[in-house]
Amino acid sequence: MERYTVSLEDELADEFEQFIQQRGYKNRSEAIRDLIRDKLKQEWLETEPDSHCVGCLNYVYNHQERDLARRLTEAHHGHHDLNLSTLHIHLDNDNCLESVILKGTTSEVQAFADRVISQPGVRHGRLFVLPQNS
Ligand code: NI
Repeated sequence: MERYTVSLEDELADEFEQFIQQRGYKNRSEAIRDLIRDKLKQEWLETEPDSHCVGCLNYVYNHQERDLARRLTEAHHGHHDLNLSTLHIHLDNDNCLESVILKGTTSEVQAFADRVISQPGVRHGRLFVLPQNS
């Protein structure tokens, strides 16, 4: 374990203390470790499109919307090699939540998520990605 000493301006230190309390961190080190991991993961996503990842794609859609359910099914079948599992929840009479677990290269997973999220009628689309070997 390496130790770092970091100097922060008062204003930034105050904001950081608020962040720690709001998120419920037990100490500063754990908060800083998570921030660093998050930033490194972001860097990795941007610079290593061929690396392997697992992704969780969540979105809500109206299954009554014309042709949408068929288009989504087509997108899933077209990328069956990426799709490990899909959880489908009927939220109410009209709306469905799907949570899809994906595995593949970062660029493939991102492209699939973009294709699903950009379908007219898909809302609250969000992809969460982790390096496969983390
Ligand atoms: Ni449904």
